Amino acid sequence: MVPTYREASNLRALAKRVAAAMAGSGWTWELILVDDDSADGSIEITNELAGRLPVRMEVRRGVPRDLSAAVLEGIGLARFDRIVVMDADLSHPPERIPDLLCALDGGADMVVGSRYAPGGEIDQGWSAWRHLNSRLATLLARPLVACKDPLAGFFALDRNTLPDLGRLYPIGYKIGLELMVRGRLRVAEVPIAFSDRVLGTSKLNWRQQFNYLRHVHRLYLFRYGRVARVASFLGVGASGFVIDVAFYLGLQGLGIEHRLARFLSFWPAVTWNWRLNRALTFAERPWRPRARQWAQFVGSSLLGLGLNVGTYTALTSFVAFFGRNRLLALICGVAVGSIANYLVANGWVYGRRRTASAGRLR
Ligand code: GDD
Ligand code: MN
Repeated sequence: MVPTYREASNLRALAKRVAAAMAGSGWTWELILVDDDSADGSIEITNELAGRLPVRMEVRRGVPRDLSAAVLEGIGLARFDRIVVMDADLSHPPERIPDLLCALDGGADMVVGSRYAPGGEIDQGWSAWRHLNSRLATLLARPLVACKDPLAGFFALDRNTLPDLGRLYPIGYKIGLELMVRGRLRVAEVPIAFSDRVLGTSKLNWRQQFNYLRHVHRLYLFRYGRVARVASFLGVGASGFVIDVAFYLGLQGLGIEHRLARFLSFWPAVTWNWRLNRALTFAERPWRPRARQWAQFVGSSLLGLGLNVGTYTALTSFVAFFGRNRLLALICGVAVGSIANYLVANGWVYGRRRTASAGRLR
């Protein structure tokens, strides 16, 4: 199946090369295009192709344009058990489809047409910037799966080993990664030569790259559970500390007295933390009204602060050792305050997931 958006200029060559690759392979096949209402003549071209080849197009209307959703829809529409997903722009060589299917028979749950497996290649035309970008994005996903090219859009699957598609929460382009990680699929790789698109334009933009970061973050939470959640909470806390200091210094730069600056800088920092934890650390938790949740978060932060300073004061006042090593007392205070803050955020502010459907991601 092939997700398409404004690919009219590529459809004829795609169908022709897929047909040529499948002829004589021994496989019965069908090409399913799932199009996001391109309105560029794609439907007419598909109808013309359908006169001589097993090609059909499903047009998604009245829903937001979404590559991952289109792929899932295509998987649902397929009438055979083996499904190959690839791009329409001929970046993925259709000639390799039989190789992917063979490898699938070798016992893997998913076979990736891989740019980064030994023997894989990338178009000479890639700029250094694009190489770096692709490498970094790949590196970020490497701890999630045993696959050298986890972001590939060219892969083969067997319907019978797929996870429940209703329990996938992809955002952005990387539906393959989502399937590998949440489906805990055993992945094999077939090296391919990836060529740049010749016709039409890429739909990958900054927004998609940002979505990719959110997506990877979610998958870390899924894969590494509490460890990833705590790490995320600490990371957000550290970023909030930077905001706090920036406002504290900035406000004084504007002539505000240092104690007032200290009091004021707390609010942007705590708001930042609340918002990021809502979007990242506890992304899959049920939706809560913002104002109330913000106030609860402020409460839990104040509790954390109280315990932090309280611990410091108690240790330095009553334990001789900490009286001599105040920096250690400060560290203990920060640890106690942070743990309390996390527990209250986890158990109360961001609530717990009660049912599977309540945990549906936005
Ligand atoms: N239905 C639908 N809806 N299809 C879409 C949409 C959409 O919103 N956006 C893109 N597509 C289709 C395109 O028509 C194309 O067939 C395929 O998805 C990939 O889109 P491109 O715009 O060509 O993306 P890319 O080349 O930048 O990214 C591809 O290559 C990457 C590797 O470099 C994708 O396959 C990525 O998943 C892959 O990582
Ligand atoms: Mn492309």
